[in-house]
Amino acid sequence: KIVPVIMAGGKGTRLWPLSRASAPKQFIQFIGDRTLFQNTLERVSDPELYEAPIVLTNEEFRFLVAEQARELDLKLAAVLLEPVARNTAAAVAAAAALITDLFGKDAIMHVLGSDYEIHANATYYDCVRLARDTALQGKLVTFGITPTEPATGYGYIESGKALPTGAHAVKRFVEKPALEKAQEMVANGSFYWNSGMFMFSAAQLLAEMKEYAPDVEKAASKAVSKSTRDLDFTRLDADHFSKSPDISIDYALMEKTANAAVVPSPFTWSDLGSWDAVWKVGNRDESGNVSAGSTTLVNTKNSLVMSHSLHIAVQGLEDVAVIASEDAVYVGHLKDSQEVGKLVKLLASEK
Ligand code: GDD
Ligand code: MG
Repeated sequence: KIVPVIMAGGKGTRLWPLSRASAPKQFIQFIGDRTLFQNTLERVSDPELYEAPIVLTNEEFRFLVAEQARELDLKLAAVLLEPVARNTAAAVAAAAALITDLFGKDAIMHVLGSDYEIHANATYYDCVRLARDTALQGKLVTFGITPTEPATGYGYIESGKALPTGAHAVKRFVEKPALEKAQEMVANGSFYWNSGMFMFSAAQLLAEMKEYAPDVEKAASKAVSKSTRDLDFTRLDADHFSKSPDISIDYALMEKTANAAVVPSPFTWSDLGSWDAVWKVGNRDESGNVSAGSTTLVNTKNSLVMSHSLHIAVQGLEDVAVIASEDAVYVGHLKDSQEVGKLVKLLASEK
């Protein structure tokens, strides 16, 4: 069976003010009645296919994780707490070391982010099984989404020759390219977006980390061997874990490995990383507006208006986001959605 590994330690600053340091986007209900984290848990809850999941997060979110799993009546194999944020390479390496202890080194792990929506139909699970079969051949498997625009916030995967399982070898993996490069790759036609999910054996992941990111592997493995367990939580050793470089798995490993594979993935996938992405996947009315909560829109087009508190009235605007949380309001152009993270940094520095 596959061991799910859910990464739920990100801050989600581009969705401010609904996504806050105290409750980032993966833990809030901003569309529908489940959180993104809960949707992710549900996708890996089939006991025929999956073991109980391992969740990676930090001290601050540990009760949110435990409570949201309990709401769904789902058992977790472990909640692994990172003493400091060292990004996804260290988190995944730590999970692989823990899985080696709990399930053996040949265990196949399915790494999932908790910040995108997937339509988990039969096509999706066909892709998951194909990825598992390909991971059993020693590959680091990615899921390739057909790009619709030259987005710069994603990894790009160039597909190569077919492998025996039906997946494809990866010729090149390019994380977060500049716009011009992204335009070239989308026009080229043989590139996919990286979905943010991976499938590999714990042994293969650790071996390749040792080769391409030895400092990450060493820090993570030692942090696991010196970890402490209390009730539901496993705490990584802070001295060792903090020695890991702060780098994502995409840069640390996927851009470098010669063993990457891609499963072409025709299921519906949408990243919910920024307000323009939320607007794109939302239910648009005849004026192109997506709204939630208490709102009135007059002569307003192609906008996202969401309130978790006050009544919002918008008149005569186009292509804007107006978002109200309990204690803050954001107003901006949807085209500036990628910049909200910078605004949040500024706010934090003014405190
Ligand atoms: N536990 C833990 N610890 N989780 C983390 C950490 C960390 O230090 N940092 C990030 N995460 C979680 C986030 O909460 C998210 O669910 C996931 O890991 C991915 O992190 P992001 O920071 O959102 O990455 P990204 O969106 O910039 O890029 C990744 O995802 C894209 C698709 O959404 C890359 O894999 C891209 O290649 C990919 O296209
Ligand atoms: Mg993301």
